[in-house]
Amino acid sequence: MTQPTIPTALSVALLGGGTVGSQVARLLTEDADLFAERVGAPLHLTGIAVRSLDRPRQAAVDPALYTTDAEALVEDADIVVELMGGIEPARSLIERALRRGAVVVTGNKALLARHGAQLSALAAEHGGSLDGEAAVAAAIPILRPLRDSLAGDRVHRVMGILNGTTNFILDRMDTDGAAYDEVLAEAQRLGYAEADPTADVQGHDAAAKVAILAGLAFGGSFTIDQVDCTGIAAITAQDSAAAAEAGLVVKLLGIAERQVDGAVLRVHPTLVPREHPLAAVRGAFNAVFVEAENAGELMFYGPGAGGRETASAVLGDVVTAARHRVLGSAMRADRAGATAGPPALPITQASTSEMIVLRVCDAPGVLRDVAAVFAEHDVSIEAMRQGPDASDDAVAEAEGRSSVRLRVITHRAPQAALDAVVADLSAAESVYEVVSVLRVEGK
Ligand code: NDP
Ligand code: HSE
Repeated sequence: MTQPTIPTALSVALLGGGTVGSQVARLLTEDADLFAERVGAPLHLTGIAVRSLDRPRQAAVDPALYTTDAEALVEDADIVVELMGGIEPARSLIERALRRGAVVVTGNKALLARHGAQLSALAAEHGGSLDGEAAVAAAIPILRPLRDSLAGDRVHRVMGILNGTTNFILDRMDTDGAAYDEVLAEAQRLGYAEADPTADVQGHDAAAKVAILAGLAFGGSFTIDQVDCTGIAAITAQDSAAAAEAGLVVKLLGIAERQVDGAVLRVHPTLVPREHPLAAVRGAFNAVFVEAENAGELMFYGPGAGGRETASAVLGDVVTAARHRVLGSAMRADRAGATAGPPALPITQASTSEMIVLRVCDAPGVLRDVAAVFAEHDVSIEAMRQGPDASDDAVAEAEGRSSVRLRVITHRAPQAALDAVVADLSAAESVYEVVSVLRVEGK
């Protein structure tokens, strides 16, 4: 049997030298001996593609490595690490590298959630590889456990806090009553937020991660367009207070759930019981809660953003893929995209509970009328609580009628039935206003 030829060194082209790329470059430089030992051959950083050569850069890295010619860098590298973000030119550069059979490592969830399946197929076709552990929940190992460790089990549900910026904002709003804009600026300063933070606050960043997780958890491939997505912009201090009164906390959750005939993928502000493990996830930390048939409930927790933390996951992929290259071993086949997988179902086919806050007329028979609406749609009520409507006294007075606030928490029911309940309540004579509707998970 012929022994594989061990390369004397593997060349690494780095595309992007920003928050994450600068840390990858620093660690490749400072920990060169460690990587050489772990890989079995030195990793030689050949260049760092950036947009502008005028920006101040990481002091530990040789300034001569910076270039604006990303295409030339990709041309002959054994390993291409893409940390530019966005779709183009990242996609074309990665395609170019994969067509040459190179190892590609990326942290780019936006790209993987749109074109991951095609890029993985291209890698397989040309004998290269594509990995993106850093793309979901940054430093937390979650893609590899779903792909490899749980390959002998059936995953029913993946539910997580997948965006550090929004968790940081919601956490500070909940604990300090901090103002939204002020906390967002702090998240940007700390390097958690995307270049355009609307991707964070509108839930698109988490939605991309849900699509990637669903492919690995259920097989097949999903895109961001199949994720029903609502961000945190409409969450108010009143929502946080109402949640706290009910023993709940508001979190932006990404959920991929297997149903009998498909999978529902969603991102939305969610009320989580204070005693649930996800409720304890603070600041920019992320956590992914996995429910599998035989393993039961698993929780993966850690830093979900930040340059150094994300670089750890990027370099984990680099070392693993480089080691495969050195040993000449066949790369693993991805489950995502390799099997047909379940179809994506519309959000109306989700099954969830909701907390519905209403401002209703304070008169005999109103509770009966409200309860009747839930019964008509076969939605069971878990808890109902009536309280004073202090914040709306002036409105009630102006309207010449007295009102109270009703907080209803349902049992799990089909989303379509819950939507019908809310539509009927909005039209009911004794309901002055549907104040808020938020889904509840983890009960
Ligand atoms: P940054 O915006 O900080 O850095 C992007 C880098 O790419 C910059 O160095 C920029 O150059 C360079 N770049 C962008 N466009 C081009 C282009 N067209 N040609 C050449 N260079 C270009 O991003 P991050 O480091 O925060 O993120 C990188 C990737 O990692 C993204 O996909 C992100 O989603 C992902 N990620 C980020 C995490 C984080 O916590 N920040 C966590 C997990 C994943 P220049 O410096 O000149 O502007
Ligand atoms: N902007 C992202 C976040 C970075 O806040 O979680 C990690 O993907």
